[in-house]
Amino acid sequence: SCLLARVLWFYRMEDVNEDKKAFYTKAEHYWKDIPPTVDGMLGGYGSISSIDINGSKKFLQKFLGEGKLKTGTGCALDCGAGIGRITKRLLLPLFHTVDMVDVTQEFLDKAKTYLGEEGKRVDNYFCCGLQDFEPQPGRYDVIWIQWVIGHLTDNHLVDFLRRCRGGLRPGGLVVVKDNVAYEGVVPDEVDSSVCRDLPLLRKLVAQAGLSIVHEEQQLNFPEEIYQVHTLALR
Ligand SMILES: C[S@@+](CC[C@H](N)C(=O)[O-])C[C@H]1O[C@@H](n2cnc3c(N)ncnc32)[C@H](O)[C@@H]1O
Repeated sequence: SCLLARVLWFYRMEDVNEDKKAFYTKAEHYWKDIPPTVDGMLGGYGSISSIDINGSKKFLQKFLGEGKLKTGTGCALDCGAGIGRITKRLLLPLFHTVDMVDVTQEFLDKAKTYLGEEGKRVDNYFCCGLQDFEPQPGRYDVIWIQWVIGHLTDNHLVDFLRRCRGGLRPGGLVVVKDNVAYEGVVPDEVDSSVCRDLPLLRKLVAQAGLSIVHEEQQLNFPEEIYQVHTLALR
């Protein structure tokens, strides 16, 4: 019966792994069909991009500048960067160089023209799922992760955040900006993602060995969308 239990366990784990694979491949297929535009990146809410970027700029500027434990402005990493909406208007204006990582090659291709002349300061375009991506240890002043964590399973998110922590320079900062559910975990079958509530997100952050040093809700977004929170972690 011990052997039987083990065999059953093995097949159950196979099912779990198959489900996990399907969760990621479904999302990849979803994003492949999305036009490489700001509107595409924001699910039709392109009009809120400026409010978003301005809120992020104010948030980030609290940490930049001279002084002990201030965050440097050498290099930033844009995670789930898409065509580079955030790289263009938030990160390239504030950092010397930027790296981008996204699972959709078509978006990274588009970035090369979308970013224009300043795009020359993008050092690396990594085409990779965040569940498999390892930031180079000690490379980044800021690792910006926006509107993409819902595409990772809990375990993969924790592991990824832990690797991000290793990717920071002294004084560096991981920033997560994302939708938060009112309560529980809300699945989205269309793009194959989940939306987590804040207590769960905070728990996963702690499991990754990171502390929340600042947290804000993005204001002035439309009533009908999820609340968006920004968390600074180190
Ligand atoms: C809602 S868009 C946000 C894009 C960008 N962060 C922004 O705010 O403009 C989500 C992005 O995540 C990417 N993505 C989805 N799953 C991913 C994964 N597992 N790893 C890396 N990128 C992923 C998609 O290709 C898409 O570019």
